[in-house]
Amino acid sequence: MRVMLVGASGAIGARLVPQLADRGHEVIGTFASPGNAGRVRALGAQPVLLDLLDPGAVRQAVLDVRPGAIVHQATALAGGGFSRKLDRTFAQTNRLRTEGTDALLAAAREAGVPRFVAQSFAPYRYAREGGLVKTEDDPLDPAPPAGAKETNAAMAYLDRVVTEAGGIALRYGGFYGDPGDQLARAVGKRQFPIIGHGEGVTSWIHLDDAAAATVLALDHDGPALYNIVDDEPAPTREWLPVLADALGAKPPRHLPAWVARLIVGEDAVLAASQSRGASNARARRELGWTPRYPSWRQGFAASLGPVRPLTAAA
Ligand SMILES: NC(=O)c1ccc[n+]([C@@H]2O[C@H](COP(=O)([O-])OP(=O)(O)OC[C@H]3O[C@@H](n4cnc5c(N)ncnc54)[C@H](OP(=O)(O)O)[C@@H]3O)[C@@H](O)[C@H]2O)c1
Repeated sequence: MRVMLVGASGAIGARLVPQLADRGHEVIGTFASPGNAGRVRALGAQPVLLDLLDPGAVRQAVLDVRPGAIVHQATALAGGGFSRKLDRTFAQTNRLRTEGTDALLAAAREAGVPRFVAQSFAPYRYAREGGLVKTEDDPLDPAPPAGAKETNAAMAYLDRVVTEAGGIALRYGGFYGDPGDQLARAVGKRQFPIIGHGEGVTSWIHLDDAAAATVLALDHDGPALYNIVDDEPAPTREWLPVLADALGAKPPRHLPAWVARLIVGEDAVLAASQSRGASNARARRELGWTPRYPSWRQGFAASLGPVRPLTAAA
């Protein structure tokens, strides 16, 4: 099939291009930073420069390519640090998830593209009550932390419009496997503490496993929502020391919740103490997907090493 991968130059895009090609797909890979054409070509895709926030350009690109499927993996988190207010960090990503998704869906409709798969996110979104591990049918947080309202709304918007259009939204776990990512850098520098009792639960996914599930989703009819996470949602107090160890860093610091509230703000404290994990049972059952790294316990150790300096990662 001819697959138009939007965001082929990114962390997951780079894992996805070779896996799509191995599956026999022809990949047209979009990038947004002008220098990235060579990277996309070297990965095995035909590169196309595209700004998802330019609806006219999106329409033209999709009509030109006439793909059998569109995969939307465009986000804009690289480079900038994480702000205390998540909505500030995610402002551009939120636009890509709302306006960008709208432009792609409109173009897909006009060009008669039968399949649409888009990146969504599982951690920190499910209601912070009841069981610690949530399925796709469980309610999302009705009152997200103040600084993350727009980010949560953008993800909910993407989930809704993609599935209403008959597509598939993949709620990935926290990505790992990219040693240049900002979380790894912060943990490597002991800037990511265990807050309070560290009982908030996170679901993780190795980038290669996220890409493998995405390839399988292209063979599946929508509409559907899938949590693409590993088998072991875990509290911060368990996964963070293992991540630090895998990075060759010193163990994480501990910060009482009241101190953390002053330094990193209430939103981070809520996430650290109340967040819920996600179940991958539906994706395993319906997509026939089996993660190569069923737990971050093996995955962190197998795929991460000492953190690269900022310049080398950029
Ligand atoms: N995705 C998440 O929710 C998330 C959450 C937390 C942490 N992280 C981590 O943060 C790091 C950076 O991740 P990222 O999510 O920003 O991905 P990324 O690796 O920077 O990939 C984003 C992709 O979207 C493209 N893109 C950006 N702006 C675009 C636009 N206006 N129009 C079309 N395409 C556009 C980029 O193209 P160019 O590269 O060519 O500009 C790139 O191909 C990774 O290590 C990741 O694991 C991700």
